[in-house]
Amino acid sequence: MGTIYDEVYRRSISDPRAFWGEAANLIDWVTAPVVIVDDSRPPFYRWFADGELNTSVNALDRHVDAGHGDRVALIHDSAVTNEVTRYTYAELQNEVALFAGVLQVQGVAKGDRVIIYLSMVPEALIAMLACARIGAVHSVVFGGFAPEELAARIDDALPQVVVTASCGIEGRRIIEYKPMVDEAIRISTHEPVSTIVLQRPQVRAQMGDHDVDWQEALSTAQPADPVTVRATDPLYILYTSGTTGRPKGIVRDSGGHAVALSWSMRNVYDIGPGDVWWAASDVGWVVGHSYIVYAPLIVGATTVMFEGKPVGTPDAGAFWRVISEHRVKGLFTAPTAIRAIKKEDPEGTLLADYDVSSLDALFFAGERLDPDTYEWATQMLGVPVIDNWWQTETGWPIAANLRGLDPMPIKPGSPTVAVPGFAVRVVDDSGSDVPAGVDGAIVIDLPLPPGTLPTLWGDDERYVASYLSMFPGCYTTGDGGFRDEDGYLFVMGRTDDVINVAGHRLSTGSIEAVVAAHPAVAECAVIGVHDPLKGQLPRAFIVCKAGIDMADDTIHAQIKAAVRERIGAIASLKDVVTVPALPKTRSGKILRKTMRSIADGRDEPPPSTIEDPAVLEALAPMLRASP
Ligand code: COA
Ligand code: AMP
Repeated sequence: MGTIYDEVYRRSISDPRAFWGEAANLIDWVTAPVVIVDDSRPPFYRWFADGELNTSVNALDRHVDAGHGDRVALIHDSAVTNEVTRYTYAELQNEVALFAGVLQVQGVAKGDRVIIYLSMVPEALIAMLACARIGAVHSVVFGGFAPEELAARIDDALPQVVVTASCGIEGRRIIEYKPMVDEAIRISTHEPVSTIVLQRPQVRAQMGDHDVDWQEALSTAQPADPVTVRATDPLYILYTSGTTGRPKGIVRDSGGHAVALSWSMRNVYDIGPGDVWWAASDVGWVVGHSYIVYAPLIVGATTVMFEGKPVGTPDAGAFWRVISEHRVKGLFTAPTAIRAIKKEDPEGTLLADYDVSSLDALFFAGERLDPDTYEWATQMLGVPVIDNWWQTETGWPIAANLRGLDPMPIKPGSPTVAVPGFAVRVVDDSGSDVPAGVDGAIVIDLPLPPGTLPTLWGDDERYVASYLSMFPGCYTTGDGGFRDEDGYLFVMGRTDDVINVAGHRLSTGSIEAVVAAHPAVAECAVIGVHDPLKGQLPRAFIVCKAGIDMADDTIHAQIKAAVRERIGAIASLKDVVTVPALPKTRSGKILRKTMRSIADGRDEPPPSTIEDPAVLEALAPMLRASP
């Protein structure tokens, strides 16, 4: 291991107060914290408990005040409209303050929630920072979610206002957003006071009585002053899939978040003031929150926001064009994006058209980085390809090769080592550490470092039950894996019902709920199966009710359509299989875990309580087959 890393990691675990107290100096406080961590109410820990700050001031105003107002803060590159728009720090500060003024006119005050349902337009970032400016709590909902999912989030977050656009652009398709928002508000119990609508030129949304035109409202708005919040006040809620259908509202606090992102941007990604950084994710996911919006701006870098796909907008050279045109130093994406490029252009012919020499490193997260994709990217780009492992819950990497602190040799398939602050362990069912090379559950000793989830929105009990009760004193990541003899961590996959489709996190439980609601279905199980492009795809196994007089094809098509309509296009249920029976225990519980292990190629033996092993044997070939 690197000696610098060893020393820094050890200090972060043995004396977290000193470590994070020092890191707190990376940001500007209104009131600097004296209490570094309040541990008086375990398992709830509050970082920088008596500190006060404003996150948008840290992202914008302080750079302008330091004389860097002319530095480019944001490059918005749209491959679908062929436009590039640049905002300096001073321009972005002005736009954010004005939109914060618009929110205030709509009655949004400190602590109020604002749901943002926008695609990859600069206004998404502006709306997020505007909330931060006035102490409001944003909750960005990914555009690929259907009205029912949006409604569930509205009813949980109870927003004062919803911010949306007339449309998103998916490749060459225009997706109208406003009708989806109208439908979500119609079916939700809670009614927001207003919907602020960005009218994009491709489509004009129909406006109703409670709708406010973004541009019109902006033309009369007064810039809002930053509002000071406590470090422990929520900055945002980001809903993510759990093991049940009900999404979990991950809460991010203000102070710990700013400190952790500032520390990680430098030490993990080696990005500082003036560097051009591109996280090719979506603002609807945690990678987008942390590394498109907050972290690069907090450290004074230039963030690239890309509207488009890795392939098809216009071709598989889009990523290389963006790197060369904006002189990108670091690119962060999901392996699935590079697999899509590799599939279209396996020899990298399009890469030869661009000068990508500005690139220092390529970072991957969101799903396991398979060795093939690692090798291809390394060979094509000739730069270090760095895997990092994290989750919506943690908000920043748990394991990484720390480029800015102490780069280490890369081992394909491993995100390298625990990041300072994360006391990572691999344990067996009893919670004891397993030896090197042995698989186990990956857990993290409490307290988690700053920037990680302090709780779930309005649901402390669910927070404890979901993450902290399985192994007392530890946070359960839900991922399994092992450490090798050198201490490198290998994260092999989820041990629960969460699946990862094209870098999008989905719950098989929520898909099952939709499948089970089809009138022909007696029972069902949805399992993530391997897909060479998207990593995993959900596959539904259904048992039909007796006497059903409907062709399988019709049932399957209806089920797929229902999943798309009720969860969203990203759920991509491409495959439904009718089977005579599902494997169960003698008490009637479907053996989903055993089915998953066969689909993953791990082939764990079924429990001794299995009712009829022949049912599992008959199903096994279908679990192993690609959809
Ligand atoms: N709004 C509306 N619809 C959306 C959407 C959005 N924001 N995002 C995706 N969809 C739709 C897609 O158009 C597609 O519709 P279709 O079935 O009619 O074609 C469907 O949802 C599935 O989308 P996806 O799984 O993304 O497949 P794709 O073929 O469009 O693209 C990839 C595949 C691999 C290129 C793409 O998923 C990708 O770039 N993934 C990277 C993900 C990522 O960055 N994750 C963040 C973690 S770092
Ligand atoms: P999300 O919350 O959407 O970021 O998804 C988090 C999940 O994605 C993790 O629990 C892992 O299962 C998976 N994941 C993310 N990054 C990696 C990685 N680098 N290696 C393996 N799995 C990953």
